[in-house]
Amino acid sequence: MESFALTRTLFSKLRRLPHVRYTNPSTMAAAPTPTRVLKCDPRSITFSGDAPIYSDPETENSIKTAVQHLTERHVVAFPTETVYGLGALALDASAAAKIFSTKGRPSDNPLIVHISSRAMLASLLPPSYAPPPTYETLMRAFWPGPLTLLFPADPSRVPSIITAGHPTVAVRMPAHPVARALIAETGAPLAAPSANASGKPSPTRAAHVLRDLGCTGRLPLLLDDGAACAVGLESTVVDGLGEDGALRVLRPGGVTVEALVDALGDGALINGAGAGAGAGGARPRVLVHKRDFVLGRHEEDAPTTPGMKYRHYAPGVPVTLLYTAASSSPPPPDDKGGGEGGSSRLAARRVALDAFFRESERGASGRLGLMAQDDSPLLARARLESTRWLTFSLGESAEPARAAQRLFEGLLGLEEQGVERIFVQEVAEEREGLAFMNRIKKAAGSSLRIVDI
Ligand code: TXA
Ligand code: MG
Repeated sequence: MESFALTRTLFSKLRRLPHVRYTNPSTMAAAPTPTRVLKCDPRSITFSGDAPIYSDPETENSIKTAVQHLTERHVVAFPTETVYGLGALALDASAAAKIFSTKGRPSDNPLIVHISSRAMLASLLPPSYAPPPTYETLMRAFWPGPLTLLFPADPSRVPSIITAGHPTVAVRMPAHPVARALIAETGAPLAAPSANASGKPSPTRAAHVLRDLGCTGRLPLLLDDGAACAVGLESTVVDGLGEDGALRVLRPGGVTVEALVDALGDGALINGAGAGAGAGGARPRVLVHKRDFVLGRHEEDAPTTPGMKYRHYAPGVPVTLLYTAASSSPPPPDDKGGGEGGSSRLAARRVALDAFFRESERGASGRLGLMAQDDSPLLARARLESTRWLTFSLGESAEPARAAQRLFEGLLGLEEQGVERIFVQEVAEEREGLAFMNRIKKAAGSSLRIVDI
């Protein structure tokens, strides 16, 4: 009813605009389908092997309804431990195509395939393929969990719409009980990008998904676990298929680089004698994109590097990244900034703290948002000016996982509260801070360096 009323109002407005073609509502296609939201309690799901057992009938019904939607080739949004995903049958090209149309996602950006068991993994790979020992170690340590690994794809099983025509397929086994149960009950792998319109911040709550994709009329079903995603940003994407045996982190994420190195043991950082070393001598075997390696020119411009080609993570209001640590470096000149035409590529302008507050307040007619860690002098100062500033805590600086978990929640929450601009203070590029900075550099359209704090 609500969307019908909205259509009517829109129609009467459009009629008044002479240059807009309009259609009489009585002859229009049916109003967009509203999104059905079903509750799931992850605490009510346990597993016997890979098979889910439910103690709450409502949760069981919700999962079964979602399975039916999926097998009928519709998309379903569901919670994972990283961010909400927009799922569809991965091995069915027509189902997977709906992911692209629902998100407005460019077709050359490949999708991650989500599995609930090792048997499902085997079904995606060439029959004779055995994963390298490093992959076995990582799967034991981090699956189920926020780690995505690239594998050679079996092109006779995995449709090219999933891989965007590349020889590899990205695979992840999520840990969230709702995601695991959904995949296991479907009995088939699910392709699932983050459940946001392309270019927007990833959703960490069901309400974010509803606000972003619910209005499109293309999302029939959303599973709501009633909480914020525990990790809060996406999985770490790792390519370990290179001939040198190195693990290349294409996208930092929920599994930190430090944790990858730990899991691999002393062999992870090796010198010229080790299996991962190239002719150049000492170098780490866990390599981070843009920090330790770049891809070939053609690949850097293609979207095989997560988030490189397209604008990413940007809310509807401009975002400014604030550099404050003497040691931090602004984005390299070739970094793909997002937001206002990617101007975060430019070196950050230097400004004193007082001048920063004076200038930002003078330049705005409404409220301003600030996201920073608890011990930030910026946060303290903005809180004194509470009529002007809406602040959002990123937790303590000793706990970068908290900053990562709250990043998208802060961007989406402040946007919803109607701020004119969001300022985000940098966090140290260690542990989960690396993924935080990777995302915010892409979301920000501009940056400033505050020189005196
Ligand atoms: O945590 C996550 O990974 C979430 C949840 C829903 O599981 N999913 C997610 O998907 O972040 P998406 O589509 O938003 O990001 C996947 C990234 C894309 O940037 C894509 O370029 C990259 O992974 N990717 C997918 N397949 C790839 C491949 N074969 N080679 C290289 N990169 C790939
Ligand atoms: Mg995404």
